[in-house]
Amino acid sequence: MSSEINWFPGHMRKALSEITDRLKWVDIVIETCDARIPFSSRNPELHKLINEKNRIIVLNKADLADPHITGAWISQYEAQGIKAMAVDANNKGDIQRLKKKMEHICQPILDKAAARGRIGRPVRAMVVGIPNTGKSTIINALCNRKVVITGNRPGVTRSFQWAKSSDSMELMDMPGVLWPNLGSKHNKLVLALSGAIKTEVTDMIFVASEGMKYISTLYPDYITTRYQVPDVIDAEDINEAYERYLSAAKKKGCILSGGRIDEERFASLFIDDFRTGRIGRITLEVPK
Ligand code: G4P
Repeated sequence: MSSEINWFPGHMRKALSEITDRLKWVDIVIETCDARIPFSSRNPELHKLINEKNRIIVLNKADLADPHITGAWISQYEAQGIKAMAVDANNKGDIQRLKKKMEHICQPILDKAAARGRIGRPVRAMVVGIPNTGKSTIINALCNRKVVITGNRPGVTRSFQWAKSSDSMELMDMPGVLWPNLGSKHNKLVLALSGAIKTEVTDMIFVASEGMKYISTLYPDYITTRYQVPDVIDAEDINEAYERYLSAAKKKGCILSGGRIDEERFASLFIDDFRTGRIGRITLEVPK
């Protein structure tokens, strides 16, 4: 995988310090992660910062994830005393449930404000998470319109604004962008597959072939059915995995003139199939 996919320590420090500075303005933090990779799509540094704050971990893109494993993640968070919720940001019902949960958690703060004479004060929330976990989609859905978010780029300094969700809720314009934990080969692979790391900076064929190999171990039927390839005999055999990849590419018509397999076109097709859920509802990480 390209060495360009890297940790950005400068941006990361900046993002964390922007979040720290702004925590005092909000009642609740919505931390988004990708329900297909709840471990790799969360930033471990964030936990230390927002530990004391009201918080909901949103396992977003739940419509693309394996519902049983999503349930297991939520149970694990709840056992740790952390509130968590599965969300499809494009589903109005899910967004309403999220809003209600946010209001419910913040009710004691609003009651306190009301007792001091600040009746009708809105809930103030911040949405944070690594790129591509659906922060903008959630903010837009909560506000019921396209909100211009200025902070969704690394290293951008600016003053913040509130986006109004309703009379009862305001959302903080996004603070600095967090970067994922790119620690292991597994982290990098699943982040690239999910789209958190841009395809342009990854070796697409590597991501697709390794992705196919990995998914074959977790959901063997999904791969054999969709790509009409034989069952896996030895999951560790890289030659067999590569042969299956080529065979799947051929079955999908990814062939160049002269009969050579168009590995790149199939890589793009496979990654797109995964990202849009066409292979099936897949989760690549289970709770430990
Ligand atoms: P970000 O601000 O955290 O970077 O993420 P953003 O909201 O831009 O979402 C990243 C991509 O994920 C978008 O797709 C968005 O539509 C999609 N998405 C967000 N939430 C969900 C969800 O709950 N379920 C599903 N299936 N998709 C979700 P895109 O193709 O990059 O952009 P677009 O063409 O949809 O605009």
